[in-house]
Amino acid sequence: MEKTIIKDTLNRPLRDLRISVIDRCNLRCQYCMPADKFGPDFEFLPKSALLTYEEIERVSKIFVKLGVEKIRLTGGEPLLRRDMPILVKKLSEIDGLRDIGLTTNGILLEKYALDLKNAGLKRVNVSLDSLNDELFGKINGRNIGTKPVLDGIKKAREVGLGVKINMVVKRGLNDSEIIPMAEYCKNNGLQLRFIEFMDVGSTNGWKMDDVITKKQIYDMLKEHYELEALDPAYFGEVAKLYRYKDTDVDVGFISSVSESFCSSCTRARLSANGQIFTCLFNGNGHDIRNVMRNGATDEQLAERISGIWGDRNDRYSDERTAEANLNRKKIEMSYIGG
Ligand code: GTP
Ligand code: 5AD
Ligand code: SF4
Ligand code: SF4
Repeated sequence: MEKTIIKDTLNRPLRDLRISVIDRCNLRCQYCMPADKFGPDFEFLPKSALLTYEEIERVSKIFVKLGVEKIRLTGGEPLLRRDMPILVKKLSEIDGLRDIGLTTNGILLEKYALDLKNAGLKRVNVSLDSLNDELFGKINGRNIGTKPVLDGIKKAREVGLGVKINMVVKRGLNDSEIIPMAEYCKNNGLQLRFIEFMDVGSTNGWKMDDVITKKQIYDMLKEHYELEALDPAYFGEVAKLYRYKDTDVDVGFISSVSESFCSSCTRARLSANGQIFTCLFNGNGHDIRNVMRNGATDEQLAERISGIWGDRNDRYSDERTAEANLNRKKIEMSYIGG
């Protein structure tokens, strides 16, 4: 397919699209959707506000023409949206797209893994912050144990989906689980990525003191394992990967706080209600849903997206501590999907 390469003001091409399909979640992870802030009265988006699958497909095709090669479906919890395999099927038929992944908490994965795989999904990234049922239940704010997630991971592997595990590490909460999680994933041939707790949104009470850095986790791992650094698999890879010596199992770090990676950030984000965000930390969305619903042509949509990307200058994690960022308007993780 003929692709147009568009670059932002920092010369970064548009390569990835992260699509949030729903802002709701069946968990209330403390670092993402704390239960006291996302209670029964919280107003989530009404169904009519969500992009339809046809709209998502249309926008995705335009993004692919503008250089996107990889789409990741996120939420909230994307598997709460009905008929996700139908969306995956539509996206998997787009010419020029190389990769479709889904980021999930895994609770509904056992149920949907086979249909997702058959629809063309290649990979899932599953969040799991602890193997200890009690602690996991406390972190996820719903007292749900690890079993449904572990069953979901097992099923996903059985049907042939690639699986990576995401573990957000927060000091004093689940640092005791770093080695047990590493050991479990290593023994089961699963790639685990340790994620530094980030200051996304304004409800998770983030403090720098709560962050355990990549270096700190790496040093803990080194006491137990020999690790070899791997080269990035592609330009702009989010995780820095290492391999356990004499195995084929990798372990990674997503070090957005201590070692930012904005200079190679090729990711655009589309919220469930059709706003384009040019950075996880830039709260100013650019509407595309109403533009579409008001009858814009594909050419007009492509022009709008090119304009938004062309104006992009975000590098939040590089400048995290800058004065200007401290009072910046931010969006919630559950709304933008990470
Ligand atoms: P693959 O590399 O394709 O497997 O996916 P990914 O790691 O990019 O996606 P995933 O949804 O699993 O995200 C893992 C973590 O990385 C989450 O905490 C995301 O919020 C974080 N992340 C992903 N992209 C970015 C980014 O552009 N900036 C920052 N700061 N964090 C990101
Ligand atoms: N910091 C880092 N990662 C986070 N995630 C959610 N909230 C945060 C945060 N504050 C992770 C989830 C999931 C991915 C989409 O983002 O655990 O793996
Ligand atoms: Fe839900 Fe994922 Fe946020 Fe946890 S991190 S509350 S599973 S969206
Ligand atoms: Fe990209 Fe913004 Fe994340 Fe930097 S902070 S890597 S610009 S999304």
